[in-house]
Amino acid sequence: MPIVTETGFQTEPNLSFRGVEALAENCKNLTLDVDPDTEVDVLSDAFSRIDLIRVHFDSFADGRGFSLGRRLRNAGYRGRLRAAGHLISDQFRYALECGFDDVEISDALATRQPEHHWIADAPARPTYREKLSDVSARLPEAQHAADRARSALRPVSLYKPLANVHEQVVTQVTHYTDGLFSFRISRPSTFRFRSGEFVMIGLPNAERPVFRAYSLAGPSWDDELEFYSIKVPDGPLTQHLQRVEVGDTVLVKKKATGTLVMDALLSGKRLFLFSTGTGIAPFTSIIRDPETYEKFEQVVLTQTCRTQAELEFGLNVVAETRGHELLGDIAGPDKLVHFTTLTRDDHPHTGRITTLLKDGHLFDAIGMAPIDAEQDRAMLCGSMDMLRDTGAICEQFGLVEGSNSRPGTYVVERAFVD
Ligand code: A2P
Repeated sequence: MPIVTETGFQTEPNLSFRGVEALAENCKNLTLDVDPDTEVDVLSDAFSRIDLIRVHFDSFADGRGFSLGRRLRNAGYRGRLRAAGHLISDQFRYALECGFDDVEISDALATRQPEHHWIADAPARPTYREKLSDVSARLPEAQHAADRARSALRPVSLYKPLANVHEQVVTQVTHYTDGLFSFRISRPSTFRFRSGEFVMIGLPNAERPVFRAYSLAGPSWDDELEFYSIKVPDGPLTQHLQRVEVGDTVLVKKKATGTLVMDALLSGKRLFLFSTGTGIAPFTSIIRDPETYEKFEQVVLTQTCRTQAELEFGLNVVAETRGHELLGDIAGPDKLVHFTTLTRDDHPHTGRITTLLKDGHLFDAIGMAPIDAEQDRAMLCGSMDMLRDTGAICEQFGLVEGSNSRPGTYVVERAFVD
């Protein structure tokens, strides 16, 4: 059985694993097998006697093993932690973030998903070990960066509250590349939206703040609002927005709107979500909404980017969705298919989605029949050129563009940032 680690596949001598009943014997250097619903309390008194805990995942959609990994680490377990059973390569990064050191996979899976699938998914974000060792060392620089950001964000305080605008607080910021970041803000109690919609957002750094359309990247049930953005050095909004820190204020207009919503599509069996770059944002909302899976039997999310690092946000959301204790059951890999392709980096799939739709590579790769206008529906989000080219292909498949007032078989979003 190959063991997948951050550096690649490894083999190890056969270890003999025992169940939790071995704890009663007072032995040391234990290697234990545990079920995902094991109580941490059962193990915590014996942490110092355990060398390795192997957590079993019963299905791809079962998120309990991820939660157990996190709980073990939070409770202070510092020994080796292994995930085994039904995991796939796009869950590897998430497993590491939850505190796992490695994943044990079957020989059959290692053949289907060879080493480069897993290593391509290795973490750009820090694992729990890096977080533990690194935080104190980085504090002074982080503090200076925050101070610089704050002074740049508020050169003037001319902003006067506007009637149609909520002032919300930033709760989390994540930077992926020099050009991409996501952030979360508090949600006004009265703010309602349908998954897939966008809203105008701005900053309180001028008398007349600049507002831009941003897709709501989180699902409509979330307690907070999430956004995914490019950083444009001289973009009227993003040059400032890219420097926001936890605790800063972001302005949100009161009304959300948009066409990438279930209401604008006629009912169907498969839903194709075609995105390029940050165009994935409305779809990370839609794939986390249980209503999507009530309306469609299968959802195929595609993202075309230039480089591997640009895929990270989408990969994280898909892994978190699959690991989520409720969504995991309804958005497993048989229901939610995630297809990524790169145009300027090595990757299992390369080339624009438009090419892969025309030559049939997409359908071969995901093992599905081509688009059939009778039962398939599509949503498109990307640059103006991408919308034009992908829209033309959808129409060749017989799909017809819809809107909120006249639902159709495919829809596009034409709201852009900077
Ligand atoms: P490419 O590298 O071949 O230009 P951008 O940042 O320019 O919006 O591009 C994001 C991704 O979308 C890139 O991988 C880019 O590929 C791809 N792309 C750009 N234009 C189109 C288009 N008209 N149809 C499909 N994909 C496109």
